[in-house]
Amino acid sequence: MTSKDHRDLLSLDDLSPAEMEQLLRRARELKQARQQKIPIDSLQGRMLGMIFEKASTRTRVSFEVGMLQLGGHALFLSAKETQMGRGETLEDSARVLSRYVDGLMVRTYAHERLRVLAQYASIPVINGLSDSFHPCQVLADLLTYQEHRGPITQRRVAWIGDGNNMANTWMQAAVLAGFHLTLACPDGYQPDAGLVTLTQQRLQGRSDASLTLVSDPVIAATDADLIITDTWTSMGQEQEQQQRLAAFSGYQVNEALMERTAQTSLFMHCLPAHRGEEVTSEVLDGPRSVVWDEAENRLHIQKAILEWLLS
Ligand code: CP
Ligand code: NVA
Repeated sequence: MTSKDHRDLLSLDDLSPAEMEQLLRRARELKQARQQKIPIDSLQGRMLGMIFEKASTRTRVSFEVGMLQLGGHALFLSAKETQMGRGETLEDSARVLSRYVDGLMVRTYAHERLRVLAQYASIPVINGLSDSFHPCQVLADLLTYQEHRGPITQRRVAWIGDGNNMANTWMQAAVLAGFHLTLACPDGYQPDAGLVTLTQQRLQGRSDASLTLVSDPVIAATDADLIITDTWTSMGQEQEQQQRLAAFSGYQVNEALMERTAQTSLFMHCLPAHRGEEVTSEVLDGPRSVVWDEAENRLHIQKAILEWLLS
């Protein structure tokens, strides 16, 4: 094990509110620089290793393109095609990769795998999604909300559907950014009870932020400023798909639900979307949807995260 002389981003709990604001500010600057074709080479000569144990479109491409745009380089390391897939331990892999690259981005299953990698790596480790958290995505979402509607502080945010890794990360974001979060999840699909309790404890006494769990999506959506959903079957849960389709049938984000929301509400989805399941095409392609900006903003926030940790 090496002593820690660097930071990691394993979940939003690794950030202070000021650090989060700084990342969002830098992402806006980097986005503007890109639009004005101003070159930035803050990561020249830096190398990012990207370990993927699950599929990805946005995360892989935005991290890889982000590194290239900042003058660095990224290596795609599929777990299947490295010795990790043949049983080389996480500890040993972390030690070895730390000798070659300047940072690791990891998409994996159990969050504990990330913790072990981060513990044994002597370089920063970034969570590109685990079964528990997806911090880079929610930072991109916060950036997207700010761009469209200004500060999210004290707004009403409604999560509709599965209490999954994205829902967990939104709970951490409520603590960090300060907003009123209501989750509408079916019985048996609520987020991790320990994390709910911890979040409620952290929010106790705060007037700017709260966490409420309900089972009725209409209650969550009523007057909400932001509606968010995600797939009903996350990566790794494919064998539960039929049972999940049945359990979530009343939780679709459709026009009828959107009509309950505030007049200026926005709709977000981290994508990939399953049109006709958790969201209708009408909503996804409709005027309140900001999903394509959300996807684009993965690139800009990734670059801010990479600069912060690697430069
Ligand atoms: N939203 C997201 O993380 O997309 P990918 O799975 O395509 O990376
Ligand atoms: N909850 C989804 C998010 C995909 C970006 C999953 O984990 O598969």
